[in-house]
Amino acid sequence: MNNFVFQNPTKLIFGKGTIARLATEIPADRKIMVTFGGGSLKKNGVYEQVVKALAGHTYVEFWGIEPNPTVETLRKAVALGKEQQVDFLLAVGGGSVLDGTKLISAALRYEGDAWDLVLHPERTGELVPVASVMTMPATGSEMNSGAVISNKATAEKFAYYSDFPKFSILDPEVTYSIPDFQIACGLADTFVHVLEQYLTRTGESPLMDRWAEGVLQTVVEIAPKIRENKTDYYYMSQYMLCATMALNGFIAMGVSQDWCTHMIGHELTALHGITHGQSLAIVMPATMTVLQAQKHDKILQYGERVWNVMSGDENARLVKTIEKTEAFFRSLGLATRLGEVNIGEDTIAEIERRFNERKVAFGEAGNVNGTVARAILEAAL
Ligand code: NZQ
Ligand code: ZN
Repeated sequence: MNNFVFQNPTKLIFGKGTIARLATEIPADRKIMVTFGGGSLKKNGVYEQVVKALAGHTYVEFWGIEPNPTVETLRKAVALGKEQQVDFLLAVGGGSVLDGTKLISAALRYEGDAWDLVLHPERTGELVPVASVMTMPATGSEMNSGAVISNKATAEKFAYYSDFPKFSILDPEVTYSIPDFQIACGLADTFVHVLEQYLTRTGESPLMDRWAEGVLQTVVEIAPKIRENKTDYYYMSQYMLCATMALNGFIAMGVSQDWCTHMIGHELTALHGITHGQSLAIVMPATMTVLQAQKHDKILQYGERVWNVMSGDENARLVKTIEKTEAFFRSLGLATRLGEVNIGEDTIAEIERRFNERKVAFGEAGNVNGTVARAILEAAL
């Protein structure tokens, strides 16, 4: 077990009707900027609930934070926030709206350009407090300090870390309107977040292992129920809680982490706009295939405990476990091969070039560089 420091200050407010709590959770003397995405929340009643709850507050609205939030859009929000002298940010939407708002929070108190902060996070100074109404279970952004920001002009997408939301409101009823494809992507994202923190080495922490396996097993169990009926409160609440628990630090205490699948997936999104969860469903089985010698013991443990793969020699069980993982993503309705999304050699060469240029060393062994990323992408063809 490695040394670790754990602190997660986000207050989680979960359940039916909880958006009304905004009225009391945000101090009345704050000047708020409420950030939104493209407008889906005007059709499902969320916007009305937020407006009603904020009736006693002073606020401005910023609309238009897109999926894979771009710094180009966020600059406009920063300009509005500075002009209006806001001192509290409320993100209402999915991970993209909240991630974008985390960068706005730092950029509001920064003299230079917001993209500088992404490239030089050490320049982050004072932060405007952020809270959220999370409407899309997937990223865990509602209870972590991460954000992923895109730059349209340079076709880049990088992680950025600022602060945890002060509080996040999760009402599973607001998820009923999420399009099926986004739900599939959210389930895949949740599943892969756990794998990134679990599918590394055995014997570091049996407690973390079982906690991670509990989230994986739950996602496998609920996924078909959700695909059958996405307005079932019981299953949608389990899904929502799984997404939060998968990336709020609780399963990562003292254990190695990988994240190379995410880093490769971000490049597919930056270059082709592939939805985040979809990119992971393509890369993850290929990562397992290419790194199966290094991850050997953990893949066997995962296969046995999550997929009940017990018979055959070790090699047969490894192959079966990777097949089960890919089949799970397919059962969600997602593609698992680059060819299905019309990506081929040109993109592989570009990602290899970028990773070599940046001298990256991803993964728990620090060995995923441009060459290994190429091998993973070739295995995903
Ligand atoms: O923009 P609107 O109109 O609101 O529509 C959104 C968007 O089109 C829609 N949506 C959200 N809630 C809805 C809804 N539609 C109907 N009903 C609702 N209740 O869903 C679409 C996708 O939303 P988005 O926020 O992009 O999805 P997600 O939450 O999956 O966020 C993806 C972004 O988060 C990053 C990804 O890279 C990507 O940029 N990630 C953030 C992480 C973090 N902060 O820790 C970790 C993740 O690994 C991930 O990288
Ligand atoms: Zn993710």
